[in-house]
Amino acid sequence: MRQAGRALPEYRKVREGITMLESCMRPDLVVEITLQPVRRYGVDAAIFFSDIVAPLQFAGYDIEIKPGIGPVAADPIRDAAGIAAVRPVTAADVPYTTEAIQQLVSELGGTPLIGFAGAPFTVASYLVEGGPSKDFAKTKAMMHGNPDLWHALADRLADVAIAYLTVQVEAGASAIQLFDSWAGGLSPRDYERFVLPHSAKVFEALKPYGVPRVHFGVNTGELLGLMSAAGADVVGVDWRVPLDEAARRVGPKPLQGNLDPALLFAGWEAIEPEIDRILEEGKSAPGHIFNLGHGVPPDADPDVLQRIAKYVQTRSA
Ligand code: CP3
Repeated sequence: MRQAGRALPEYRKVREGITMLESCMRPDLVVEITLQPVRRYGVDAAIFFSDIVAPLQFAGYDIEIKPGIGPVAADPIRDAAGIAAVRPVTAADVPYTTEAIQQLVSELGGTPLIGFAGAPFTVASYLVEGGPSKDFAKTKAMMHGNPDLWHALADRLADVAIAYLTVQVEAGASAIQLFDSWAGGLSPRDYERFVLPHSAKVFEALKPYGVPRVHFGVNTGELLGLMSAAGADVVGVDWRVPLDEAARRVGPKPLQGNLDPALLFAGWEAIEPEIDRILEEGKSAPGHIFNLGHGVPPDADPDVLQRIAKYVQTRSA
């Protein structure tokens, strides 16, 4: 999950004085940061250190990640000319990505590396709003007020995701995750009309590689069936819907989730029964990848995360 490493002192140390996006362009740092949580926690997979807006910047689009805020676009997209400034990366644009992934795959031994990209809606929300948003008012205004412009933007962002995921898979990533973190802000009707076709294009394009394709968003209880229909092999679930209910909504696919990150601060006596419950409910699905329901809070205690990883592995052995 996003920021798995951010709770670690060793992460803060290597990132000192280097911006997020600069660090994503340095293979030595990408390798080190990706490996840090694997070393500490002994988790069963690594997630590639990057960000959902990184490929836009690698391709020359003016966007930065402001600490404590998130992605901020210099020139929010309002028209077709704005879309023209967004272009998919090619492998030639991102030699550092290929180099970092190849090195990671070799250092990880048998531990799988998960590559990822941002889904068209979630990335579009940053580009249209100009930064993080709670209501996505400008993005929804574009969808409904100028659907042709919206679909052109979302189609371009599908190509951005496809290009970045392709680079990662060709370099050796053994699974991919498409983050539509903020899709839960949409009604099922709007999701189906304005988002699903574009995310489906991404999943379809990655299908020939045969790697598991995971889809995730927050607050997506009402969308789980549609997100599954977009073509994911595995559906990530936040903590709001229990996994047995999620299994009914998703259909027969493995699920990923779904410990509430807030529980990390509740003490082990509260955490253990929650894990037991989640593992039990996860048996309703044909497969279950234990995870948090969203990212690791930066002030989480690494010892608690380590204990959770160990406990889940022991219980699942
Ligand atoms: O654990 C990891 O480091 C995995 C790599 C990863 C990052 N971002 C690094 C990052 C992943 C998988 C992401 C995905 C991402 N980025 C998502 C989708 C996943 C999710 O959490 O829902 C989203 C919505 C973003 C956009 C984004 N980037 C936000 C909202 C923020 C937080 C801003 C803040 O400081 O609170 C970021 C920054 C970011 N991306 C950090 C990291 C490690 C923290 C920045 C830092 O350490 O300086």
